Amino acid sequence: MNRILTGDRPTGRLHLGHYVGSLSNRVKLQSEMDTYIMLADVQALTDNYDNPKKIQDNIYQVLIDYLSVGIDPKYSNIFIQSQIPEIAELTVFFMNLVSHSEVLRNPTVKTEIKEKRFSTGVPFGFVAYPISQAADILILRANNVPVGNDQAPMVELADYIAQRFNKVYKTDIFPKVKGIYSDIPRLVGIDGGAKMSKSLNNFISLSEDRETLHRKIMSMYTDPNRVKATDPGKVEGNPVFIYHDAFNTNLEEVKDLKERYIKGMVGDVEVKEKLEIALNIFLDPIREKRKYFESHMDEVMDIIKSGTAKARAEAKITMDLVREAIGINYY
Ligand code: TRP
Repeated sequence: MNRILTGDRPTGRLHLGHYVGSLSNRVKLQSEMDTYIMLADVQALTDNYDNPKKIQDNIYQVLIDYLSVGIDPKYSNIFIQSQIPEIAELTVFFMNLVSHSEVLRNPTVKTEIKEKRFSTGVPFGFVAYPISQAADILILRANNVPVGNDQAPMVELADYIAQRFNKVYKTDIFPKVKGIYSDIPRLVGIDGGAKMSKSLNNFISLSEDRETLHRKIMSMYTDPNRVKATDPGKVEGNPVFIYHDAFNTNLEEVKDLKERYIKGMVGDVEVKEKLEIALNIFLDPIREKRKYFESHMDEVMDIIKSGTAKARAEAKITMDLVREAIGINYY
């Protein structure tokens, strides 16, 4: 069986980086595989424990983002992590299967700790979140995890834990876990920074209105060495062209712009205006669907409730298997 589990921390609306890194893969794969998509509110609390309101608000924002980009409840079960207590239970058993130093070695967690500058020390729950993420995946016995490539260490840990559990408790309940990574693993920020990110404030959100989009595109970094439109420009690594490649479906136009840019025969403004048109073509249907769902919240609530109920039923099956494998099914 092919099953997908993936998700996001509901700390803010999703952006173009989420789309190219993972959402597009989910939309593509959902009709081929049994798909579960999780709103990781428990994980979001590991570094926002003192601001639960932020998570509460963004649960619905991210849920509507999902539905607006084409995650279809006909194929995908969307659920809320905190409503599946079995995940917390499984996490406790998984903690024994990973060494202390293994947890501290996780490169993604290390980077995050540096970026987040926790003022009152790094919460233990934050350091341990990769173990809980393994439980997110394995509570559904999912074997495919479509995520951005910064999540590769988490996927590897989930597989390590799965195989170790199977070996230690002489069972085969957990599958081999593999990541599905996008061709464009991460999208640069509008400031040319390595990664589009909410905390770096260099993002274009999937629900960006036309005015803000215009302003953000006009402020985008291009080739830093090009002063005038007649200077020959560089296309590689140029954020404006990276976005053209990712979102402009008019390939002829992109090719023409690149050719002229290299020769110094087109200004940044024209390249940006064409990008704005392309992004509006991409974003308009997403904006429209968002509007629809925002005014049909009863439908949205039904979707999340039924997705969560399905995930919970599966989680209970897994926990029965886990208790039996460990031998704590006393009576
Ligand atoms: N750590 C992921 C992120 O920050 C979110 C996440 C939580 C997740 N649990 C998951 C992703 C399980 C894939 C599978 O984006």
